[in-house]
Amino acid sequence: MGRAEIRRFQQAAEEVVSFLKPRLGGDTRAKIISHTDADGIAGAAILARCLYTYNVSFNVKFTRPLKPDEVAELGKEGHDLFVFIDQGSGQIEAIHKFILSQKRDVVVIDHHPGEFPEHPNLAYLNPHACGLNGAKDVSASGAVYSIVEHIDRSFRPLVGLAVAGAIGDRQEFFSGFTGVNDTLVKRAIDLGFLRVGEGLKLIGRTLSPVVECLRLTTRPYISGISGNPSACRSLVDTLGLSPSSTLVELGSEAERRLRDALFARVGSLATSEEFCHTLWGTTYSLATEDLVGPRDLREYVAVLDACRDLQKSELGFAVAVGDRTAQTEALALLNSSQEQMLEALGWLVSHLDTFKLTPSLRYIYFGSAVNSAMVGEVLSLAMESGLVTTDRPIVGIADAGAEELKISARSTPGLAMLGINVGRALARAAGIVGGKGGGHDVAAAARIPRERMNEFLAKLDQVLSGGDR
Ligand code: C5P
Repeated sequence: MGRAEIRRFQQAAEEVVSFLKPRLGGDTRAKIISHTDADGIAGAAILARCLYTYNVSFNVKFTRPLKPDEVAELGKEGHDLFVFIDQGSGQIEAIHKFILSQKRDVVVIDHHPGEFPEHPNLAYLNPHACGLNGAKDVSASGAVYSIVEHIDRSFRPLVGLAVAGAIGDRQEFFSGFTGVNDTLVKRAIDLGFLRVGEGLKLIGRTLSPVVECLRLTTRPYISGISGNPSACRSLVDTLGLSPSSTLVELGSEAERRLRDALFARVGSLATSEEFCHTLWGTTYSLATEDLVGPRDLREYVAVLDACRDLQKSELGFAVAVGDRTAQTEALALLNSSQEQMLEALGWLVSHLDTFKLTPSLRYIYFGSAVNSAMVGEVLSLAMESGLVTTDRPIVGIADAGAEELKISARSTPGLAMLGINVGRALARAAGIVGGKGGGHDVAAAARIPRERMNEFLAKLDQVLSGGDR
């Protein structure tokens, strides 16, 4: 992956611009279909702000990737232009059958692998079609931004939303960003829309008193500190810090002392690269009044994620399009989602011994102890907190209604480099047992019939261990 692929991606973005521009005006009625998560919300907001500027009437729907019958229903709605964001590549057959066949225009702006057939009424932007990896080089919101910045330079302050989407999709690595993301972050800094610093990467660093920030931390989850207010208070007192100040108010010297004290508490975990980088590193803050919401970008993402977790993606969207009144409600949601995640991680920590090991994966059954929509995030946080060994992919299984199980899988970039692709493996194994799955090489999900769990796990193990990845 190099400059040539990034150029191809930019050219592909310009082709989408040529497709979209003639439709930005007149009486186009647009429908945006986007994913419920931070990346999907940020991507939809970037496009919405563009459409709004050109007086294009639009309607937004946040959903997990649509099933074929849902695409069929969508095709009956009276819109001229359908824009799929953070999905679409996996639904292209249904899009052809039910939307393009009706002579409607479609734009797919996605970073999931899929198919990219040509059609005169279809334009798409997907990093996988340009030799880039959609799991790390650019997110859906980065792709949407890459289009709108070519429509008009006035949309440039929205680059912060593109970086937020990438962070939301865990496309920031120990060494920073790669591919298009790297270009976008550098440009955002050069243009003065983003500032970088160094510090504790905890959610709440600008929003909550330090004791509360520590109590609620799940990224990383710090055993003995997370969920334990008296331990947090005593740590802060020992260091002589004001418990009611935020981390940013305490200043960088205090942050360093707190970091060292936390490292001292966690024992051997302090040598875990994963844990250390999750706790401490580059901080990003928004430096533009064009975006409302928290200034710290990780907190901004946490707000959008909280809206997703509590099935209120529309509220996150309202914040991302600049609605100041939506902020207060969204911040309250952040608080309750942090409490829920703390409880879920607490459950996991007390059930770590129930992880089962197979030759090619580690799995755990959550039953209904954790909301099935949160399982993937719980696994990601467990990995980042050094709670589970990451020598093979981890899989979480949760009840999803009486008939179905929700499966989430997480892997690492290192395993992906060895050719292990959980997205492909889940798609295959789920398909064999009558379910449906998919996703990226390092993060994927599936739904399968409940009674076929053991068969699914055996198949998944086989697919992951075989040459057929
Ligand atoms: O639900 P969870 O967070 O575990 O999902 C992980 C990833 O898998 C998400 O990026 C989601 O978009 C993707 N996915 C997919 N196709 C599916 C199910 C999930 O691409 N059928």
